[in-house]
Amino acid sequence: MKSYITTPIYYVNGSPHIGHAYTSIVADIMKRNRRALGYDMMLSTGVDEHGQKNQEAAAALGMEAIAYLDMRCKEFREVFDLFDVDYDYFVRTSRDAHKAAVASMEQTIFDKDLIVKKEYTGKYCKGCEEFKRDSDLTEDGDCGLHPTMKIEESKEINYFLKMEPFREKLLQHIEDHPDFVQPNAFRNELKKMLAEPLEDLCISRPKSRVTLGVELPFDPDFVTYVWFDALANYLTTINWPEGDYSAWWAECEHLIGKDILKPHGVYWPIMLMAAGLPLPKKLSVHSHWTGEGGIKMSKSIGNVVDPNEVMDLMGVDALRWYLARHMRAESDSQISVELIRQTYNSELGNKIGNLLSRVAKFSNKNFDGKVPVAGALTGEDEALRKLVLEAAAGFGEWIDMPDIPARIQAIVAAADAMNEYIDQQAPWSLFKNEDTRERCATVLYVTLDCQRVLFEALRQVIPGSAEKALAMLNAPAPASPWKAELDKLPGGNPLGEIDSLFPRVNAPEA
Ligand code: MSP
Repeated sequence: MKSYITTPIYYVNGSPHIGHAYTSIVADIMKRNRRALGYDMMLSTGVDEHGQKNQEAAAALGMEAIAYLDMRCKEFREVFDLFDVDYDYFVRTSRDAHKAAVASMEQTIFDKDLIVKKEYTGKYCKGCEEFKRDSDLTEDGDCGLHPTMKIEESKEINYFLKMEPFREKLLQHIEDHPDFVQPNAFRNELKKMLAEPLEDLCISRPKSRVTLGVELPFDPDFVTYVWFDALANYLTTINWPEGDYSAWWAECEHLIGKDILKPHGVYWPIMLMAAGLPLPKKLSVHSHWTGEGGIKMSKSIGNVVDPNEVMDLMGVDALRWYLARHMRAESDSQISVELIRQTYNSELGNKIGNLLSRVAKFSNKNFDGKVPVAGALTGEDEALRKLVLEAAAGFGEWIDMPDIPARIQAIVAAADAMNEYIDQQAPWSLFKNEDTRERCATVLYVTLDCQRVLFEALRQVIPGSAEKALAMLNAPAPASPWKAELDKLPGGNPLGEIDSLFPRVNAPEA
């Protein structure tokens, strides 16, 4: 069983931002989930190094393109490592084998007479790196996605891919494969994009304007349109055309933000059809993060959430937790450093981490540094164990991108139930009396073993903290493939060193 998950490859005209963090972290969670289920996994992420935007960013710093790209590539890689994103392949579109493969795809399509050369006059958005129709623009003539970038009038000779011959076939594919684009709101949006005849897609840029790109194999005066080049990464990463790519390709799922649905849902499938290649299995689309109050994040408003700042203040798992837990499936969600801080303190700190340190410290002190040995279980014990097992079992099943928040919510509900259980059972009082000491041991065992199950599941979401928690419990290595199981923490086993898992973070002084 194989699964190949891709993230978009990110423009390197600035530092990594929250959108980059989100897609890559979610991809990592899905990889960890599928690996736990026994799948052979491939996860690719990386950078999109060509095009006018990157070229201008290098020029603005007075740097040679190659030096600039190397610098940014290093920065992105380092940040993804800090995010604990366990990628198998880091894409760079400047790689020679990638460039050669892009050119060969273009030549194949050109040889089928599906590419034409013509003059085009139109409006160009540098943010999208594409020509716009008037109907794509706002009333003020701006691009809705990039209102601060000026739309430029452009009259150019370029090469165009014929799109219309493939439109009906693509619509049919979407009909025949209801899972091809998910969630449904985005599937409907894509169907709308395909409801009208498609204009030819401009797939080149003259070298007089853009030099940072893959030269067209049939005309050296042009480079390839950055999106054509970037989309092909999903195949070149798995060694298309020479290598043994087909088994991975058959199981490919692209994770994307809603702003790049058109390139992935229209351009890419049509490029593949034109080249005679099969389509990917699935496009999973997410909405966007906005600042507090639903306002678009922007530097001028000052509400941009910098992932590095969050990690410095609270650690990577505060960031992973918030991103994984609070994205809604079909509408934008809000984020701010303060929202992340509150969630971190209340959920990770108060509900999950504190309970572990309280119970583990108490066992450590009163049971000779060991996991207490359980006696007979009561109905309350069994009820808690059932609830925890069911919550953790959600991570022993396949998780699609929009399922992630609800699966985590089930874990939070289980943590709430554990806190309630401990308050009611009050092991600290039970311990005081010789007669109830065995009951005390049972309550502690039930809690510690339930914690173990939850943290085994949470390895998929907050791997660093979950491993730390399992080390505190000195839990045996979980089986692989994994499934949630009770009673795997041996009673009488020594506990590990107990530390605070999620130390409280106070609001910065105003
Ligand atoms: N280079 C192209 C992708 C090529 S893939 C073959 C690109 N890069 S990007 O750096 O501009 O953006 C990449 C991703 O970041 C997109 O999935 C986009 O949706 C995501 N995000 C950018 N801002 C975002 C938010 N505010 N919230 C969530 N994700 C958003 O497009």
